Amino acid sequence: MTSVIKTERLTLRPWQDSDVDFVYDLYSRWVVQRFIGNEPAVMEHRSEAETRVRRFQELDHPVHGVWAVTRQEDGLPVGTLLLKPIPASGEEPLQASEDVEIGWHFHPDHWGNGFASEAAEAVLEHAFAGGLPHVIAVTNPANEASQSVCRRIGMEHLGQSKKYYNAKCELFLVKNPALEA
Ligand SMILES: CC(C)(COP(=O)(O)OP(=O)(O)OC[C@H]1O[C@@H](n2cnc3c(N)ncnc32)[C@H](O)[C@@H]1OP(=O)(O)O)[C@@H](O)C(=O)NCCC(=O)NCCS
Repeated sequence: MTSVIKTERLTLRPWQDSDVDFVYDLYSRWVVQRFIGNEPAVMEHRSEAETRVRRFQELDHPVHGVWAVTRQEDGLPVGTLLLKPIPASGEEPLQASEDVEIGWHFHPDHWGNGFASEAAEAVLEHAFAGGLPHVIAVTNPANEASQSVCRRIGMEHLGQSKKYYNAKCELFLVKNPALEA
């Protein structure tokens, strides 16, 4: 069961069936999808959002999760925060590697407020409290906004890598400080 995580301004909670409209609004936008995946594509049917919400809800793990990020003041959903095994490059369908990635997809109405960084920092804390040795993030080389989030939350840039998603990505990593000598 995905846990609830609270920050100063945000509540990260499990996805609800009533979030389908938000998910459709989010993932049907090119500005959100343009750097996601090898062949970025926007959602074109509400049914895709229903399937996505179901998939988000199915991830049942004590530490990994996909959270709906909501504003505390009014409960409004503003984005998605993910913590899950990252697919290794290889033959399709790609298989999960042993590394865990953190990722974020926010609605453009809420960019520029520090919400992605605030939510991601809290999920990193949750990941390390749950004992993960390190967390990685990969971004499209052109996705500077996402690379800024990585840096803001203390991730180290390790250069480009083709290890994941059959794609050339900028690779970021942060180690669990509790396990550092
Ligand atoms: C990547 C993405 C989440 C970044 O969103 P963002 O709003 O720029 O990121 P943050 O929430 O951390 O906000 C940081 C910005 O808010 C500003 N800000 C305003 N108030 C702030 C506050 N209280 N705290 C921190 N930052 C604040 C910062 O100055 C910063 O602006 P800058 O980048 O111009 O310096 C967003 O662009 C997105 O969802 N893109 C589409 C999906 C995507 O590509 N995801 C990544 C796939 S790898």
